[in-house]
Amino acid sequence: MSTEQRPIGIGVIGCGGFGLFALQQFAQVPGVRLVGIAGTHREAARAAARRFGLPDLMEVEALLRMPGLDLVYVATPPFLHRAQAMQALAAGKHVIVEKPTAMNPAQADEMIAAARDRGLLLATNLMQRYNPLFDAVKGLLERKPLGELLHAYFENYASDEFLPAEHWFWDRSKSGGIFVEHGVHFFDLFAGWLGPGKVESAQISLRPGTTIEDQVQCTVRYGDSTPSPQSLSPAAGERGRGEGVLVNFYHGFTQPARMDRQELRLLFERGDVRLDEWIPVRATIHAVVDETDTRTLCELFPGARLDVTTWYLGKDRACSGRHKSLDIYQMVEMKYGLEDLKMHRYGDLVRAMLSDQLAWVADRSHARKITEQNGRDALALAVEADKLAHKGR
Ligand SMILES: NC(=O)c1ccc[n+]([C@@H]2O[C@H](COP(=O)([O-])OP(=O)(O)OC[C@H]3O[C@@H](n4cnc5c(N)ncnc54)[C@H](O)[C@@H]3O)[C@@H](O)[C@H]2O)c1
Repeated sequence: MSTEQRPIGIGVIGCGGFGLFALQQFAQVPGVRLVGIAGTHREAARAAARRFGLPDLMEVEALLRMPGLDLVYVATPPFLHRAQAMQALAAGKHVIVEKPTAMNPAQADEMIAAARDRGLLLATNLMQRYNPLFDAVKGLLERKPLGELLHAYFENYASDEFLPAEHWFWDRSKSGGIFVEHGVHFFDLFAGWLGPGKVESAQISLRPGTTIEDQVQCTVRYGDSTPSPQSLSPAAGERGRGEGVLVNFYHGFTQPARMDRQELRLLFERGDVRLDEWIPVRATIHAVVDETDTRTLCELFPGARLDVTTWYLGKDRACSGRHKSLDIYQMVEMKYGLEDLKMHRYGDLVRAMLSDQLAWVADRSHARKITEQNGRDALALAVEADKLAHKGR
């Protein structure tokens, strides 16, 4: 019987906090059958095996020999991703690996080559692009109801409450550091919106009296493809002409869990959009718009509540910004996604990611939202930021 006719058998390597969550989502995707769990022993993973009627936890080699296994999901800490993915690919299995793809782009290239040589799937779970808000913001960038994008930031005030000092997360040799372990999600999100970027500056901050790097930040410039002319001063280096959009990324793992919060904002010529939380479900738009822009916003954010703050009549419609004359009908505040729950959206994204990747397994002409190249590119940017932050330290 061919793979296309029977369910896709999925096995998991590493069933910790996130592996358990993902497994519960994967089990709901049509055409999927869970086959087994390989992992270091842990009561919660054993309970998951019982929950899904799977055999008790096994070694990776035993999992790879399981009949009916087609795809391996790697959800171990980052330093294990390359070796375990390569082992699964060598056994002829498709692979979905948790982010980050690996510890550096050279490892990711090796994995990509191994998957391509064998005609197998390789994807990294960068599921942010499956969020409907990803498409809505992409619409703002393409249809420009708020004008051109000028600037953006992502501020991540994350929790460390469940990350004790001995957790692998703080060990750079295991996690790769915060840019690599966590930052890749947001580097990929912005790459999906703006294309490739270049790190302009990066810093890290240590928790006082320790070697724990708990805060990182960097600035990435997007959309400046102009090579720097020879005539520019050496200080301009390889940086192009300084056009494009600067985006700031901050991640700090410092908060009690109940205070974990994030804010992402894109500033345009005639307004801004703010997304709350790191799996955003809510968007707030503050803008000055004409009649056509208002209509476009309502199309991009269907069902959003639109409040009119001020309307302008006659000669009051005229104003200017960036040396451009504007004709403005009203100032609005739009709120979208107020009823949605973050954890439900999180589950949606993981299921959508798997369905999209499995569609490619069934039909190689299917264009995936996330490919192995996206995982590799986000990792390359993260490593670039990490290196720059450590330069001279
Ligand atoms: N996509 C997302 O939104 C998201 C969210 C959280 C975590 N993650 C990623 O998931 C991965 C795991 O993170 P986590 O938070 O679940 O970590 P975790 O520490 O909770 O779980 C890791 C699991 O791997 C197991 N493990 C360790 N060494 C192993 C080995 N040699 N062989 C097999 N299993 C082994 C551990 O026993 C544990 O069960 C990381 O790469 C992380 O970045 C992704």
